[in-house]
Amino acid sequence: MDKQLLENTARELVASGKGILAADESNGTMSSRLEAVGIEPSPETRRKYRANIFATEGYESAISGVILFDETIRQAMDDGTPIPEYLASRGVHPGIKVDTGAKDLANYSGEKITEGLDGLRDRCAEYFSMGARFAKWRAVIKIGQNMPSSANISTNAHALARYASICQEQGLVPIIEPEVLMEGDHNAERCYQVTSEILSQTFIDCRNQGVHLPGTLLKPNMIMAGKESGEQISREEVADLTVECLSKNVPEEVEGVVFLSGGQSDEDATAHLNLMNSMDIEHPWQLSYSYGRALLAHALQTWANDSKTESQNAFVHRAKMNSLARSGNWSADLEI
Ligand code: 13P
Repeated sequence: MDKQLLENTARELVASGKGILAADESNGTMSSRLEAVGIEPSPETRRKYRANIFATEGYESAISGVILFDETIRQAMDDGTPIPEYLASRGVHPGIKVDTGAKDLANYSGEKITEGLDGLRDRCAEYFSMGARFAKWRAVIKIGQNMPSSANISTNAHALARYASICQEQGLVPIIEPEVLMEGDHNAERCYQVTSEILSQTFIDCRNQGVHLPGTLLKPNMIMAGKESGEQISREEVADLTVECLSKNVPEEVEGVVFLSGGQSDEDATAHLNLMNSMDIEHPWQLSYSYGRALLAHALQTWANDSKTESQNAFVHRAKMNSLARSGNWSADLEI
């Protein structure tokens, strides 16, 4: 394992004012998102939409890396330049989603286990040779009656650690993503408990398997009440509880925390991050973003309205707002 390479990449991904764009929707998810805005999905329509985003001017100061899906890392920009090569030329690290999706967990109806360990070593080696320098694996934890089970926590934590070890061996910084879903009618306290459980088990497994924590990034959810709970807590409480939960469960050697947006509104995702970065409390990690929907929802909508430039403007605006939130310098009056 090249620890220096991993530490350098991880540090660059959470450099001051920068975060990650998650553009790694699977073909199925990206196709439904395109269909939802009236665009016929195909490899070419997925490529055109994403190539336009990647060609946007001026996002390098806010975006350190882009997570790609297998289809996209093999595609090219409009002028034929391979996408990973193009991103690297802009000083942006190409990343790759390497899990193969969340599948039903046997014996536990309604729960999911993320698959993709078979053949992962060879796939990581290929992605590295194509220019990828980091990777993502998403575990999905659902809160509900008798959920999550301890089997769901332990199997997903174990798989995350196996994935992280293999990536590091192949020179890729693993983004470890145990996502506790916002869907459900649970309160914020229950989200806190479950997030604590999956985080602490994940890092136990990572330590057991020799994962080099300074060469990793954690991608967690924030602590919020379930979407259907009808009792959403304030932005300040989200920020306080999230930092408290991380402080209790995340080893300080981890280089950075890059949150997912998980269905939050664009502005909530930015405001929560801004509040966390404005606190007096000391914490050892960079707190940053690896947002998908909260960076691109509006860009997709405007793309559907046939405006390349507006789509790029929407993306670069959100990127800049989140960049400001890295240092607590965002405010609502900067929104347009
Ligand atoms: P969202 O920010 O849309 O949740 O996507 C981030 C991501 O990569 C989920 O795996």
